[in-house]
Amino acid sequence: MKKDLLSEYDLDRADYEYIIEKAHRLKRLHREGREHASLKGKTLGMIFDKSSTRTRISFEVGMYQLGGIALFLSNRDTQLGRGEIIADSARIMSRYLNGIMIRTFSQDSVEEFARHATIPVINGLTDLLHPCQLLSDLFTITEKRGGYEGLKIAYVGDGNNMANSWINAAAKLPFYLDLACPEGYDPDPAILKRGIAEAPAGVVLRRDPVEAVRDADVVYTDVWVSMGQEVEREERMKRFGGYQVNRALLNHSKKDVIVMHCLPAHRGEEIAAEVIDGPRSVVIDEAENRLHVQKAIMEILM
Ligand code: CP
Ligand code: NVA
Repeated sequence: MKKDLLSEYDLDRADYEYIIEKAHRLKRLHREGREHASLKGKTLGMIFDKSSTRTRISFEVGMYQLGGIALFLSNRDTQLGRGEIIADSARIMSRYLNGIMIRTFSQDSVEEFARHATIPVINGLTDLLHPCQLLSDLFTITEKRGGYEGLKIAYVGDGNNMANSWINAAAKLPFYLDLACPEGYDPDPAILKRGIAEAPAGVVLRRDPVEAVRDADVVYTDVWVSMGQEVEREERMKRFGGYQVNRALLNHSKKDVIVMHCLPAHRGEEIAAEVIDGPRSVVIDEAENRLHVQKAIMEILM
């Protein structure tokens, strides 16, 4: 694996397997209450330019459980938030910390930070990608379905950071990815083009959600208004009608389909309450798994 985790596209199949395997082991140790303090004395910095519940708590708690500590660095309090340049911040933080997680807007900023940092940099979500979430989702699918090979995964809704991350994973791993997004809300064109060209099983983008979820093993959705897009809310509510994951849509999937969502969710928008709170939903396990997967990532990189 590389020094940093900036994009799923930097991982090959062996890396995915390694992370998932390690997460299984760490989850077992955690459940059995057994010692697994592999990062004693180490420190993770966590830069947040956007809100977070799961990412912050799972990294912070995960670091504590591994024997280290994590520092929450909000852009409201650091000099980075007042305009200190990324290069200086990265070089200086590298002298104090053993790893850094960044949640921000631009993917370029995270990549610039990583270029100047001598410590591992982990992408905790950008407008473009959300690799830690994607890895937890694959881990969850592996737990629920014994693996991902040959499965059909349908992504319904906005062609956002989660959609892009799914395409990057499908470019490397043998599952079928079928996306349905309304016109004008497609995933990143370069990521999509590369994913379609390189996917070992296949990537398809279409407009019709019924076709996307037909015989799917997994149906995945995410919010229609991501962080930073709040001004587009009204327009998006109009454009995404028909893309809700609800009972009627799931009638076209496999009987034992599992429903996933990275959360936070908006019941009645991208997903019906009876679905996200119903028996096919695995969202709470999926959220728990952020902890185990993040610990695996930190153990490997730090
Ligand atoms: N799914 C996810 O990243 O959640 P948070 O925004 O709460 O971290
Ligand atoms: N697409 C969402 C994911 C949140 C975890 C956002 O970027 O706000």
